[in-house]
Amino acid sequence: MALQYIDRGDYNVVVVGAASGIGLQTARFLAGQGGRVAALDRNKDGVETATKELGKDAVARAVDVTDWNAVRSTIDGIAQAFGKIDALVNCAGITGKTNVPTHEVEIEDFDAVYRINLKGAFLLSKAVIPHMLARKYGRVLHVASIAGKEGNAGMAAYSATKSGLIGLVKTLGKDYAETVISGNGRSPAVIRTPMVDALPQATIDYMTAKNPRRRCGELQEAAELIGWIVSPACSFATGFTFELTGGRAVY
Ligand code: NAI
Repeated sequence: MALQYIDRGDYNVVVVGAASGIGLQTARFLAGQGGRVAALDRNKDGVETATKELGKDAVARAVDVTDWNAVRSTIDGIAQAFGKIDALVNCAGITGKTNVPTHEVEIEDFDAVYRINLKGAFLLSKAVIPHMLARKYGRVLHVASIAGKEGNAGMAAYSATKSGLIGLVKTLGKDYAETVISGNGRSPAVIRTPMVDALPQATIDYMTAKNPRRRCGELQEAAELIGWIVSPACSFATGFTFELTGGRAVY
């Protein structure tokens, strides 16, 4: 039985990357807590299907986080429809091609990973924070990765963009610390999701071998941690990347 962190019916959360994996489970968890969820994803059919189980007040929006005009108009539209946005959870991310040494990474592949994992996070922050500043309340969470702290072999674009994302999270914490808007991140290591299932088994083995628990983490645990971080209950921590790595991260 999960603890209740948010006001039922009066807490509005935008979950990006909500058609699958961590984003979908987080949207389910927040809706289960009584939150009103706006589910965003570039996968239109996936996000519309997912939203059917998120309660009658939930809305689905197809949006590509790399498109500034689409991001801005979508966020503005949700703020208008809901009246306010209390929190944004950004789970949109891709690995790009893996098992590729850095000098063999294709420039187009690096750019594609950068546009989603890092620029998309910046665009979402830029779009949502003005709505939070107007009310002096907000929570922004981007899902980073342990790869951004340690680097994963054969994943140059992924590791570099997740490092950049951790830098963005630290800056959000400092830019808005006085305004009760907190910017936090979450750094998981190997939660079994469609993104992980799409990786070669050798890459999954490489990652699970690095954590002392020697296994994948549970989706529900990831969703519950995110749910707490973006709730009013998490009021002091900001500019921080919380770990869910089975003991791999030690600081
Ligand atoms: P997933 O592949 O199951 O879900 C990612 C979602 O993001 C998908 O629904 C996809 O359509 C959406 N998305 C991708 N590009 C988009 C775009 N341009 N615009 C809008 N939506 C887009 O992946 P998973 O595993 O749930 O990952 C979620 C986040 O967690 C990602 O940022 C990932 O890098 C991060 N992460 C996951 C780990 C894991 O073990 N599953 C480990 C470390 C980090």
